[in-house]
Amino acid sequence: MLYSMAPMEGITGSVFRRAHAEVFGAMGRYYTPFVSPLPKVGGHFVGRNKRELDPAANAGLDVVPQLLGNDADRVVWAAGLLAQMGYKEVNLNLGCPSGAVVAKGKGAGMLRDPHALEAFLQDVCERSPLPVSVKTRIGIADDSEFDELLDVYSHCPLAELIVHPRVQKDLYRGAPRQARYGEALEQAPFPVAYNGDIRCAADAESLTKKYPRTRHIMLGRGLLANPALARELAGGPALTMAELRRFHDALYDAYTEQMGGNAVARMKEWWGYAEGCFADPKAVHRALRKARRADEYEAAVEKVFSL
Ligand SMILES: Cc1cc2nc3c(=O)[nH]c(=O)nc-3n(C[C@H](O)[C@H](O)[C@H](O)COP(=O)(O)O)c2cc1C
Repeated sequence: MLYSMAPMEGITGSVFRRAHAEVFGAMGRYYTPFVSPLPKVGGHFVGRNKRELDPAANAGLDVVPQLLGNDADRVVWAAGLLAQMGYKEVNLNLGCPSGAVVAKGKGAGMLRDPHALEAFLQDVCERSPLPVSVKTRIGIADDSEFDELLDVYSHCPLAELIVHPRVQKDLYRGAPRQARYGEALEQAPFPVAYNGDIRCAADAESLTKKYPRTRHIMLGRGLLANPALARELAGGPALTMAELRRFHDALYDAYTEQMGGNAVARMKEWWGYAEGCFADPKAVHRALRKARRADEYEAAVEKVFSL
């Protein structure tokens, strides 16, 4: 089974990937949080995107850059830049549910018009120098939309389809509609991966029991709440507090090096998920809530690990 790390904007960037690989070993694959805006044709990745995609920041890891955009020329140009940088695949974000993104006809907004989506994908797949995979939701408002979307995808030469079986209006709420993933797995002429609410071995077992052809599971929030999740799913030992501490320290040191005092805010975002590793997540939250400065944060972390 391939376990990959989900793209999570603001969290699973290159710093997180490296720290995680250092402590828990490399995941089978990683997807970058969405890269946006895409460079104009003739331009280059700049700023944060340039840092995120720098091959040196991703050395030794199987990283697939994810692009967010609806302009085929820019997507193809970006794929060309990525090919020159040594990447082997490009992933398109057809799932971001944010109102601002959808209003611009990007992310899940691209699912609104299946005909336009097919024209876009055919064009991108034909001209992209890299194989193109897609991460998708199953519709905007109703999962019956997925019938037509799956038809569209099946007509395109995709490298892989990663299905997060929620509609845009679900945001991250409600149970994933796994049966829709099952349909894609049966019908699509290319590999299909599953993503959504896999938090423990029982979740993964239930999925693979229902859909035994599953070969690739993408892990998101479950992996943030338990950074040893992929190892556990593969039959390995459970997370220890000593490992969690090592991971925390590696992450905090790397963020501090990259962004100085802003590392505290970054770490607190991660704690929003990682507090679930503790017997009393609310106590963890209370201990960290008021920390602003690095010294306050570091004292709070000491307290948390002695809880
Ligand atoms: C904070 C946050 C940021 C996310 N950023 C991205 C992103 O950049 N690209 C993307 O395709 N999905 C993004 N997602 C969605 C996740 O990749 C994943 O599809 C979703 O969390 C469901 O999987 P999970 O239940 O395993 O977390 C994001 C989700 C969250 C909560």
